[in-house]
Amino acid sequence: MYVCLCNGHRSSDIERVARDQNMTCPKAIYQALGGPVCCGTCLDVAQEIVEDVHAGKTTTTMVETVVETPMMSHRLMAAE
Ligand code: FES
Repeated sequence: MYVCLCNGHRSSDIERVARDQNMTCPKAIYQALGGPVCCGTCLDVAQEIVEDVHAGKTTTTMVETVVETPMMSHRLMAAE
């Protein structure tokens, strides 16, 4: 699922960096992903994802759904 619409960061990207680089700060994770915080509306969700990673919770099974809108295509992912 896209967490950050400003940068296109997905939950899987945030999880990977949090886990692989043992990072806990969403702002630092965004820097590592190459897209720094812009509006900041996504940071609470990103923080929850980071906390889940470090608590040992994973979202390994994902279902991907494509939603078409007149203006753009969004790719949504949700845990089963
Ligand atoms: S939605 Fe993530 S910085 Fe704006």
